[in-house]
Amino acid sequence: PVPEDHVVVLFGATGDLARRKLLPGLFHLAKAGLLPARYRIVGSAPAQSALSDEEFRKHARDAVAEFGRSKPQGRAWEEFEAALSFGACDVGAAGPLVAAVQEAERAIGGSPRRLFHLAVPPSAFTSVIETLGASGLSENARVIVEKPFGTDLASARALNASIHAVFDESRVFRIDHFLGKESVDNILALRFANGLFEPVWNRDHISHVQIDVPESISIEGRAQFFEGTGTFRDMIVTHLFQLLGFIAMEPPTALQAQSLRDEKEKVFESLQPVDPAHVVRGQYEGYRSEPGVDPKSDTETFIALRVGIDNWRWAGVPFYLRSGKSLAEARHVVTLGFREPALRMFPLAARGHAGARSNALVIDFDDPGRITASFLVKDPGPAMRLSRAEMVFSYAESFNSMHALEGYERLLLDAMLGDQSLFTRSDGIERLWEASTPLLENPPPVEPYAPGSWGPDSVRRLIAPHHWSLPHRR
Ligand code: BG6
Repeated sequence: PVPEDHVVVLFGATGDLARRKLLPGLFHLAKAGLLPARYRIVGSAPAQSALSDEEFRKHARDAVAEFGRSKPQGRAWEEFEAALSFGACDVGAAGPLVAAVQEAERAIGGSPRRLFHLAVPPSAFTSVIETLGASGLSENARVIVEKPFGTDLASARALNASIHAVFDESRVFRIDHFLGKESVDNILALRFANGLFEPVWNRDHISHVQIDVPESISIEGRAQFFEGTGTFRDMIVTHLFQLLGFIAMEPPTALQAQSLRDEKEKVFESLQPVDPAHVVRGQYEGYRSEPGVDPKSDTETFIALRVGIDNWRWAGVPFYLRSGKSLAEARHVVTLGFREPALRMFPLAARGHAGARSNALVIDFDDPGRITASFLVKDPGPAMRLSRAEMVFSYAESFNSMHALEGYERLLLDAMLGDQSLFTRSDGIERLWEASTPLLENPPPVEPYAPGSWGPDSVRRLIAPHHWSLPHRR
């Protein structure tokens, strides 16, 4: 399906996200023929950093050249560039933006849909929303709200209330780019399109689940953002809990937004409150001397935690979540560890180290993604010795990944189509903050870890008697 005609407005058009992801992503959608027949993209920013249309086009060209998958050239680029314009907007002074939107609408003709993308710091969300309401720009409009969505339950509730004063929930798209990754949709396919996996996708067969997203980058100059946020808010509440929702949900009645979000929401309802006793907070050595970081900072750059889901499918199955900066590898890995067979027929000596990391299904979200089933097989020869073996499905090897969209591309397209399946709902996000409250109120002290390591040693104790499936040794 192709979206109806659109005027897309990018707030924060000169910022990092627009440069790295949104402008290149929109150009990729245009090239792939997925944008509406008629569209305009209006950049916006406060008057003090306003650009002319020409400057904005150059800004977009530079962004696509640096971060895009295809170069800003040829007919495709000329057409895209011609659809770009700029309109400044300050609190209570939306005049130039209103004019730019009206101009874009005239150029398109008819009554195109408006889509506002709030790629601005969270502190600006409310004032931008209010300005959209007061200026009338909110009519016939949808809004994409960036993360982090609040910093605790009270702030998330307040933010939802101010959004709902202008946009009803059906027009609000809280974006979580992890949910736009191909592999998330693939969890649904894997679970609900096959008879092979779903029958064992429960507490009777699964001993534990790992959702592991180590990052090798440091905070990369984002001290101001990171100091007030930390890894729990930046990664767990936003991305990893959302993945957990897809992994743990019951089969939806249909593959559409309402049922999917209802099922995800039920998982969040059953999520146990995060117990600080089952949390390891870490901070990489050297973090406190990064420019802009408080020399006594208690902000975590690493977190690992154990949570449970109190429902019939998952009672008693621990879910381990881990993420952090400056770690040894950058990965996105979900591991389902299966229970051992009821009777151990093979002597332990024959199982060795291999046993610890076999008997598992590993879903790798690294683009373009892969799924690995690992199990024990017999070594050739007279002795009954077991080794670890793998069956691997790799997207890159099986499909032409040219057709794949990156997270932001997929989600921008879905928002234009009005499909909320992969966006977070207000009740879901509030529930996650509620479950996070014990940790936010009583965070354990941060433990130091060496950059390039796998975090503080205590993460191994956290997961015992299981083992982290990363680092992956064969
Ligand atoms: C962002 C976080 O939402 O996700 C970053 O703010 C993090 O801190 C990034 O690095 C990770 O995304 P990806 O897709 O690169 O794993």
